[in-house]
Amino acid sequence: MIEIAPRTFQVEGRDEADRALANEIVVLVRAKPDLVLGLATGTTPVGVYRELVRLVGTGELDLARVRTFNLDEYLGLERNDPAAFRARMQAMLFGPARIPLARTDLPACDVQRKGEAAECERYERAIEAAGGIDLQLLGIGRNGHIGFNEPGSERATRTRIVELDATTREDAAAAFGGLERVPRRAITVGIATILAARRLRVLAFGPHKASIVRATLEGPICTAVPASFLREHSDVEFWLDRDAARELVRVPSNRV
Ligand code: PGA
Repeated sequence: MIEIAPRTFQVEGRDEADRALANEIVVLVRAKPDLVLGLATGTTPVGVYRELVRLVGTGELDLARVRTFNLDEYLGLERNDPAAFRARMQAMLFGPARIPLARTDLPACDVQRKGEAAECERYERAIEAAGGIDLQLLGIGRNGHIGFNEPGSERATRTRIVELDATTREDAAAAFGGLERVPRRAITVGIATILAARRLRVLAFGPHKASIVRATLEGPICTAVPASFLREHSDVEFWLDRDAARELVRVPSNRV
């Protein structure tokens, strides 16, 4: 691992980042067993979750008392839809890492239209009541979204209903078995909600993330690239593999 810019780490393989972030969580949970974790879905954090499950299995980590809040959830799905983030998190992390259901939270995927505003409010209040997020894991969408804060999202946004971008729906098509089955709307925490976390740990891997990583880290901080707001946080780290870092121009090691 090399620090290629302040708070920006380039790893040889993504498993190095997975281990580093899982180890940081181990240290934090030892100091505070009821750590409040902000979690993300998508393919990016899968390796971190796999490593956390392994550490729970070896007895090096106990997640039974943590609280978890996911960034976002699709709307208009049945509660038990296997494509809902709730089901994916249960299968990938909550179940195998033995995190009690009652200590996990995501926005509801099956909320009725008239209950949507109340669900957004509930989610903000629940994060607040837990004492705020201690560590937030994040991926970056190809279009620069964080959570489902699509381009155009303001820095002051809080948990709310959003319309999903075409690129976001395309990227989700495989998980739903076809683009036409991907929901058009979702609930996401806002950019201000994300920036209120004490630590932000951002992961981006693969050549398809190279141009958005450059815009995130080296472009203007603006609503067109919601991930660019992450640079304003005082405890943010970006973990990139070589492919995701390859378009960065201010990094000397990348020029050779
Ligand atoms: P990915 O998505 O992890 O599947 O690349 C990232 C995101 O949309 O935040």
